[in-house]
Amino acid sequence: MPGLENDNFLRACRRKEADYTPVWFMRQAGRYLESYRKIRAQHDVLSICKTPELSAKVTVDAANELGVDAAIIFADIMLPLEAMGVRLRIVEDTGPKIESPVRNEDDVAKLRDFRPEEGVPFVIDAIRRVKELLEDRIPLIGFSGAPFTLASYLVEGGPSRDFTETKKLMYARPEVWKPLMTRLSRMVVDYLSAQVKAGADAVQLFDSWSGSLSPVDYEEFVLPYSGWIFDELQGRGIPRLHFGVGTAGILRMMRKAGGDVFGVDWRIPIDEAWDVLGDVGIQGNLDPAAVLAGPDLFDARARDILVRVGGRPGHIFNLGHGVLPETRPEQLKRVVDLVHRETKR
Ligand code: CP3
Repeated sequence: MPGLENDNFLRACRRKEADYTPVWFMRQAGRYLESYRKIRAQHDVLSICKTPELSAKVTVDAANELGVDAAIIFADIMLPLEAMGVRLRIVEDTGPKIESPVRNEDDVAKLRDFRPEEGVPFVIDAIRRVKELLEDRIPLIGFSGAPFTLASYLVEGGPSRDFTETKKLMYARPEVWKPLMTRLSRMVVDYLSAQVKAGADAVQLFDSWSGSLSPVDYEEFVLPYSGWIFDELQGRGIPRLHFGVGTAGILRMMRKAGGDVFGVDWRIPIDEAWDVLGDVGIQGNLDPAAVLAGPDLFDARARDILVRVGGRPGHIFNLGHGVLPETRPEQLKRVVDLVHRETKR
């Protein structure tokens, strides 16, 4: 990327040599940070997201405080759904709650078309502000929820353990599933395109809950949609990151869907995941709970990841999922320093 002071993250995304292994954390801005809690005491999450000064500040403060190699825009995967007319709130410690779940053709037809500049102007504005505040020190990651993960919230009406309603609809009601996934996929492409136009240097597709699917179901009911999104975003000069939780069994299928870098959780050794994925970048793998343990344990776990990777280009250090609220910021900084120090080339 021309002009970036620290482009190690982007180089690693392209599997080019970096000065050291870049680090960032999913949910690096959040309640575990004192600076965030102060703002959060006055505003709920969605209000922070909808106030560009605040979301830009939260984004940049977190990246600066931790000394990470990339910032991620402070937003939520639910924002574009609100812009499509879905009424929802975010319940603390639980997650999104949808007022009227989407269960039939009428519910899908009622979804409004999504135009990023009208529907989520605050995200676009926040990205521009963050780019100014960062002054090209580190790159900025934009993101969107993936069709399956968004559909799961819309259909279940909230977080779920088994995704029974989503799967029932997916298996038995193609006349609902197909248009729903199609509408969501179109939205994701338009949303991520607008983020790139506003200055995002990379984009991540959060398919957090796709690991709940068998490989055949992923292939039949999800791959065509996520695959279309990655195809549409190819050739634009920005790395595409593809993330999910519990995806050990569907990595091959996720790879088929697309992406330049794959985020994996801790349920598979990172070298095994990389063997399955082949010639792409990889990030994640450290259990967020390990960061809560004493430094001896989490130093050992972080080093284990570095040993398994063995200095191969294309590695980005991250947790396997978001930072837990009870995390001590010093512990994360310790991980950043350890990885930078031990991988310096
Ligand atoms: O990573 C970052 O620093 C950027 C911020 C970010 C948020 N949400 C802000 C937020 C990101 C990347 C997301 C994505 C998101 N949102 C996902 C995909 C990633 C994942 O974790 O799998 C999902 C599933 C959501 C939906 C959602 N929003 C959940 C499950 C929650 C947590 C509820 C809780 O209280 O723990 C939210 C709320 C939310 N969005 C928080 C943050 C930092 C929680 C903190 C708060 O309440 O202030």
